[in-house]
Amino acid sequence: MNNKVIAVDGPAGAGKSTVAKKLSEIINFTYIDSGSMFRAITLKVIKEGIEIDDIDRIIYYANNSSIDFINNNIYLDGVNVSNEIRDSLVNAKVSHIAKIPKIREAIVIIQRRIARNKNVVVDGRDIGTTVFPHAFIKFYLTASVEERAKRRYNELVNKTQYSFEEVKNQILSRDYIDSHREASPLKQAEDAILIDTTGKNIDEVITELLYHISMNGGI
Ligand code: C5P
Repeated sequence: MNNKVIAVDGPAGAGKSTVAKKLSEIINFTYIDSGSMFRAITLKVIKEGIEIDDIDRIIYYANNSSIDFINNNIYLDGVNVSNEIRDSLVNAKVSHIAKIPKIREAIVIIQRRIARNKNVVVDGRDIGTTVFPHAFIKFYLTASVEERAKRRYNELVNKTQYSFEEVKNQILSRDYIDSHREASPLKQAEDAILIDTTGKNIDEVITELLYHISMNGGI
């Protein structure tokens, strides 16, 4: 097996998904957005009206849902939910769902299955530490909290729904839960390359990643 995994971890709003997706297109790897899987399960939990602390029912519904990727879109039970999973309500609840070890185990299995025979760029929180500890190269993207909040705020379609401060607090709260949970918390892998994206545009970050990839022997 000589397929390659490129891991891109980091906190919310660090630019992981935009950068990982574009990088995958440039180098012709498959892109796996692991956060979207946690988001899809969270969407299901919201739609089914399940309480966030009803762990058994959450696990039941997660195990009885189908999650598929087709052309970089995510399908939950056959329905394209790529836009819906970016909803603010999902943002507010996803980290609570992602804390549940059994949910994490199920999602790790899906990611490893997708990557079995493919070159992949995977973005998330625990890719370099847990899901693919032997990844070919690992990046840890970060940025100042102000900049991360600004990016998320600018992505909001309906800006009257939340203030900038609320968006910032939501990011801080997710970061806190993600980095303090027991099961595979958000943290930089020891062998990950730290990239601070503050004040940099996508192309500048991509150039940096490509430089490190080439220094690592290229692909
Ligand atoms: O990357 P994104 O913001 O879409 O991730 C949504 C949430 O899913 C994160 O805040 C985190 O709680 C969870 N997540 C995770 N592990 C991953 C990817 C995402 O716990 N590998």
